[in-house]
Amino acid sequence: MSDDVCGLDPRDIPGYDGHGLFQTASYNLDGIDAMTKRRTGRQKYYNFFSHFYDHFIKMHSSNDRDETRQFLVASANLEGKKHPRVLDICCGTGSVILAFSEHVHGIFAVGVDFSIGMLNRARAKDASSKAAFVKGDAADLPFVNDYFDIVCCSHALYELKGHDRNRALSEMRRVINRMARS
Ligand SMILES: C[S@@+](CC[C@H](N)C(=O)[O-])C[C@H]1O[C@@H](n2cnc3c(N)ncnc32)[C@H](O)[C@@H]1O
Repeated sequence: MSDDVCGLDPRDIPGYDGHGLFQTASYNLDGIDAMTKRRTGRQKYYNFFSHFYDHFIKMHSSNDRDETRQFLVASANLEGKKHPRVLDICCGTGSVILAFSEHVHGIFAVGVDFSIGMLNRARAKDASSKAAFVKGDAADLPFVNDYFDIVCCSHALYELKGHDRNRALSEMRRVINRMARS
């Protein structure tokens, strides 16, 4: 399997309810081939950084990060919602989406990132395999419209330069369901 291969069969996603998640009609089990070449440098950087990322963050932040994640989960107000669908854009090593999947019962949790190194770390931390981690570009999300109840992005918008930032914000809006948008 190459680095660009997502290797995710939607039928294996925990909580996947059979409704179309991926938007590309050509989506196949060998992966999503929508990456743009110009992002390769940044991907390589994060593939390398993935080996130290969590240690580095731990060294440079206080315990507040756990509290902030818990605040985020609580603010999402998902209590009582049956099978809420939550997407974390640029999920990195998965800290935010794993906080959701650990605290929200029946959740369908998806993290998307363009670095396979970061995604592998995230998968390794998800001991109970509650979340799905998908390789994809924030500016060109591989998901259908109106799918998720919550879409979040932590510590990453600054990564998206120029038009990409606006495109990523439009993509976040596109994939969140209409009710959640208002
Ligand atoms: C500073 S890390 C933040 C990771 C995580 N959200 C957190 O809070 O710890 C930035 C992440 O954004 C990802 N990233 C940057 N540009 C991206 C893009 N265009 N599409 C998808 N992921 C991207 C990187 O691979 C990296 O994992």
